[in-house]
Amino acid sequence: MNASSPSPAQNQASTATLYGGVTNRRVTVRDLAAAKQRGEKWSMLTAYDALTAGVFDEAGIPVLLVGDSAGNCHLGYETTVPVTMDQMVMLSAAVVRGTKRSMIVADLPFGSYQESPAQAMHNAARLMKEAGVGAVKLEGGERSARSIELLVEAGVPVMAHIGLTPQSVHAFGGYPVQGRGDEAAHQLLRDAKAVQQAGAFAVVLEAVPAELAAQVTEQLAIPTVGIGGGPDTDAQVLVWTDMAGMTAGRVPKFVKQYADLRAVLGDAARAFAEDVRGGAFPAEEHSFH
Ligand code: KIV
Repeated sequence: MNASSPSPAQNQASTATLYGGVTNRRVTVRDLAAAKQRGEKWSMLTAYDALTAGVFDEAGIPVLLVGDSAGNCHLGYETTVPVTMDQMVMLSAAVVRGTKRSMIVADLPFGSYQESPAQAMHNAARLMKEAGVGAVKLEGGERSARSIELLVEAGVPVMAHIGLTPQSVHAFGGYPVQGRGDEAAHQLLRDAKAVQQAGAFAVVLEAVPAELAAQVTEQLAIPTVGIGGGPDTDAQVLVWTDMAGMTAGRVPKFVKQYADLRAVLGDAARAFAEDVRGGAFPAEEHSFH
């Protein structure tokens, strides 16, 4: 064992709670599996920069997702579709640098894995080698199973994402709830089982009826992470700008806003501008002599 290898104790899955439990190393896939075993629910937030990620890391959020939602929540695009690998590598590296304890999962963006398992492997390796993430996420159930299998065989932990898969926004014609009706529900179950069979360590269920998400959660051994999947998934994820009230305009029905950061930041900017205009800033205590 060299100086930087984890000790045998660090290698083991933590038996303490995920939230506030593991403090001297990053959360691992084994910790998440152990949490499912003991029935502990956990939280995941998106993050796109070092500063915000550091806040969430300090708050004890066990998993941070560098989502390709960066497209519409951080980079000013309308959808996730234009996001590139170079952008994901840059954002993911910043999130890794800003954190110590959270597991960092990065999205493979649209067009970076659909061509072939080899393409998925090439780009997953970039995220691990150049950005230092601990896992990647990709969209698709049965259709992505071969890529998941190859990545897992190569040592890349994979989080799958089924139900409403935002990279397919143009094929869906929007963001409709998925899995409604018998045939769609059966397909969702098949997708969930396919990604588990392929070796995914967790699966995101987006915008599916709560009853169906509960059924999938019960039938899978791996953790399910819900976003618009009701209360019975093993974990819950929210886009941080929605969660903290930074998003302009309407947010989806499944979002709960825990702060009104957009108002707080706007008020601060207006107060600064007023102080400058009126000569109240800078004051004596802000000046050098
Ligand atoms: O990109 C993202 O933020 C996501 C979440 C919605 C799960 O995929």
